[in-house]
Amino acid sequence: MGCLDQNWVTSLVILLLALCTPCSDAYTKTASKVKSAVFYSPKVELSPGISSNKFYYDVKFPEGHVALKSFNGEVVDEEGNSVPLYEVYLHHWLVARYHQPINSTNTEDIVIVKNAGVCQGNTLPQYFGIGSETRKTATYIPDPFGVEIGNPVEIPAGYEEKWMINLHAIDTRGVEDRWGCTECRCDLYNVTTDVDGQSLPPGYKGGLQCCTDNTQCRLKEGYKGYNRTVYLKYTVEWVDWDYSIIPVKIYIPDVTDIVKISNGPKGLNVTHNCQVEYDIDRCNTTEKHDSGCIDVRKTSFPMIKGGYVIYGVAHQHAGGLGSTLYGQDGRVICTSLPKYGTGKQAGNEKGYIVGMTTCYPRPGSIKIMDGETLTLVSDYSNSEPHTGLMGLFYFLLAERL
Ligand SMILES: *[C@@H]1O[C@H](CO)[C@@H](O)[C@H](O)[C@H]1NC(C)=O
Ligand SMILES: *[C@@H]1O[C@H](CO)[C@@H](O)[C@H](O)[C@H]1NC(C)=O
Ligand SMILES: *[C@@H]1O[C@H](CO)[C@@H](O)[C@H](O)[C@H]1NC(C)=O
Ligand SMILES: *[C@@H]1O[C@H](CO)[C@@H](O)[C@H](O)[C@H]1NC(C)=O
Ligand SMILES: *[C@@H]1O[C@H](CO)[C@@H](O)[C@H](O)[C@H]1NC(C)=O
Repeated sequence: MGCLDQNWVTSLVILLLALCTPCSDAYTKTASKVKSAVFYSPKVELSPGISSNKFYYDVKFPEGHVALKSFNGEVVDEEGNSVPLYEVYLHHWLVARYHQPINSTNTEDIVIVKNAGVCQGNTLPQYFGIGSETRKTATYIPDPFGVEIGNPVEIPAGYEEKWMINLHAIDTRGVEDRWGCTECRCDLYNVTTDVDGQSLPPGYKGGLQCCTDNTQCRLKEGYKGYNRTVYLKYTVEWVDWDYSIIPVKIYIPDVTDIVKISNGPKGLNVTHNCQVEYDIDRCNTTEKHDSGCIDVRKTSFPMIKGGYVIYGVAHQHAGGLGSTLYGQDGRVICTSLPKYGTGKQAGNEKGYIVGMTTCYPRPGSIKIMDGETLTLVSDYSNSEPHTGLMGLFYFLLAERL
């Protein structure tokens, strides 16, 4: 199966989609050392205005002791066609690794295997994950690096390694305010309490608490649209593990992180409190100069362990103007800028962030020292107010070359 004809692949995908869901291994190519497979999430049922934010456990994933090389996802319909963001807004997808007792299907006994940091608890534990920018954001990890998974010595006895996908898609067909629905504005979802029925914090105007699974965003008067089924299609590339591969660690700092540093009994005690989302108000119009209206958010945090930067990319929502990670001496580690769509087709939807630029420094050229304090800056336009914004940075560090 070295060189599959594209039409043949497409028909195979459709055939497999028709035969079985969830579907896996639509094709596997072994032309080079790099293997690739296309997988589909379980089906996601949508109706106009609905927010679907679900967790899918034990999803299809490369098996065995391997190094992941890339992970790309997008939303497709039942024919396998790409669905544009103005119909189904991809708020985010993320992929998390976990260990679970062998043969168990009880999700209460899972142990999430988090990335290397820096948020605490189970906040942002994912290995991969982005949102609307998924179609035009490079995720490839250059040789000889890779994300090591499935190493039997890391899996506790009696457990097995599995993968979970969280997919948050918002069907914005026929809604009254498309951007308001994508930003999860509480008034549009008619939500005033959290999932436990407790009142939302005062001043909470929008964000994930208002577009939880199955909430409904307000439709235009009289709008009737059909229900539809979509899937997250994800393409994974990997290589079988061998000793020539250098593992990279995944870090996902968050610009809303409230970092506290004190002297503990065993040296520095650093605590993180990642808020994940933030809001911005409309700028004060009297301050509108040539520089425009820009909201600048920052956080600084120490890296316990350093390494060589192999890859970096930011995650922002519409309104984003870019994000930069700085070293302690002020040097730029990586700047990642949004690419806005200008047209109609999936991958180029006008007004949406359809991609983020990435950094691939020459390995060895950008080093973060052990204990170095990094600063993350996230810029947004605040000529309009926004809710539920994100300012995450995703970077990969190799501890040796
Ligand atoms: C469409 O889906 C909604 C749930 O999201 C359901 O209540 C409704 O009955 C469905 N309509 C049809 C025509 O299947
Ligand atoms: C898991 O299930 C398989 C198939 O039913 C069985 O052969 C195996 O012994 C089980 N393993 C454990 C640890 O329960
Ligand atoms: C909004 O929610 C309130 C209370 O839950 C309910 O009484 C009201 O009918 C809802 N409004 C709409 C437009 O669904
Ligand atoms: C670290 O600091 C946090 C609060 O900032 C505190 O709750 C915790 O007990 C401290 N841990 C140690 C080991 O000092
Ligand atoms: C806007 O900024 C000016 C100058 O800093 C200040 O006097 C004014 O109160 C601000 N207006 C608002 C609405 O914040």
